[in-house]
Amino acid sequence: MGGHQSFPRVTLPKERVVIVTGANTGIGYETAKCIAMMGATVILACRSEEKANQAMTKMNAEFQTEKDRKNERVVDYPELKIEFMKLDCASLQSVMDFVKEFKNSGRQLHVLVCNAGIGMSKQAYTEDGYELMFQVNYLSQYLLSAHLLPIMKTSGEDCRIVLVSSEVHRYSEFNLDRIQGRQFNERNFKRTLFYGNSKAFQIMQMFSMNRRLQKSNVTVVSLHPGVVQTEVTRNFTDLAPWALLFGVSKLLGASKTPFEGAETTINAAVNPALKGVRDVYYNNCKPDSIHSRARNKQNQESLWAYTQDCLKKGDFLPDDIIQCLEGE
Ligand SMILES: NC(=O)c1ccc[n+]([C@@H]2O[C@H](COP(=O)([O-])OP(=O)(O)OC[C@H]3O[C@@H](n4cnc5c(N)ncnc54)[C@H](OP(=O)(O)O)[C@@H]3O)[C@@H](O)[C@H]2O)c1
Repeated sequence: MGGHQSFPRVTLPKERVVIVTGANTGIGYETAKCIAMMGATVILACRSEEKANQAMTKMNAEFQTEKDRKNERVVDYPELKIEFMKLDCASLQSVMDFVKEFKNSGRQLHVLVCNAGIGMSKQAYTEDGYELMFQVNYLSQYLLSAHLLPIMKTSGEDCRIVLVSSEVHRYSEFNLDRIQGRQFNERNFKRTLFYGNSKAFQIMQMFSMNRRLQKSNVTVVSLHPGVVQTEVTRNFTDLAPWALLFGVSKLLGASKTPFEGAETTINAAVNPALKGVRDVYYNNCKPDSIHSRARNKQNQESLWAYTQDCLKKGDFLPDDIIQCLEGE
């Protein structure tokens, strides 16, 4: 599991159930693998079954290697308790199908890691009519959290929602009139701004949810994983400043490997010392400052109402889910 680690040695029972979205590669892959090696049951919520199957085969091979090395940090199962369940965050219907399948499994849910994301994509709209990064990075995973919340509330103490955000949340605006970017065209669409917005919205979701979950067993935290060499660059190889940042960081050894990038997520998901901790944005496993725009309560509540309006339009938020979200 690598030399440098900043999460404690933890053993988890197989009854502890963790969902990691976007777990087939990058930070999500390492997060899912390491938590499964600690003993938990991990659901890989991915859009491609083929990629998820390849990832699970690789995870089990790496698990075997760790066992052969007699690594005492990994459990002694014959195989990891990992499963694929289909989730395409570009489709609200796919989120609903995922929720239905998960509910049918009768499982409890202890940790939801909202990791799936796309970086600085070109202007594009989903089948639901929303800006792609808004929906994939934020809206769909808000919907997922909302529908899984009733299960988490009845899954015993210390349940956590971990939102993988970014330092780019600082390069954002809060303007509901252009939240979908329809005023822009393919040439002048501000890709960094809209990525930054989606990442700021995750942090705002954290504050709004926690306000409503104060008295519950469910806590929400957010984090920046670092500049991590993953496939995240695939959408912005043509954006010179960002391609340069990732290229130069790699050359200078200043960026993180996917495992190092996953450490902050893993720590937030499993560290027993963080039980009950809310409203924190972690960076390098330590609390960090949050931009004032994302900390602004009025912005948070406006986004909350806007988000619910989006989801109510397609009947994606029934009354019982809203009541649960509102802390009732
Ligand atoms: N890498 C960095 O430097 C960095 C910095 C700050 C924040 N982050 C954040 O960290 C998270 C993980 O990124 P990463 O660096 O590991 O990137 P990555 O290697 O590109 O992995 C992204 C994951 O998200 C999945 N995904 C993308 N679109 C999806 C969709 N529509 N439905 C379901 N899953 C989808 C991908 O699945 P496919 O393989 O099928 O596309 C993949 O599993 C993201 O939220 C990203 O914004 C990364």
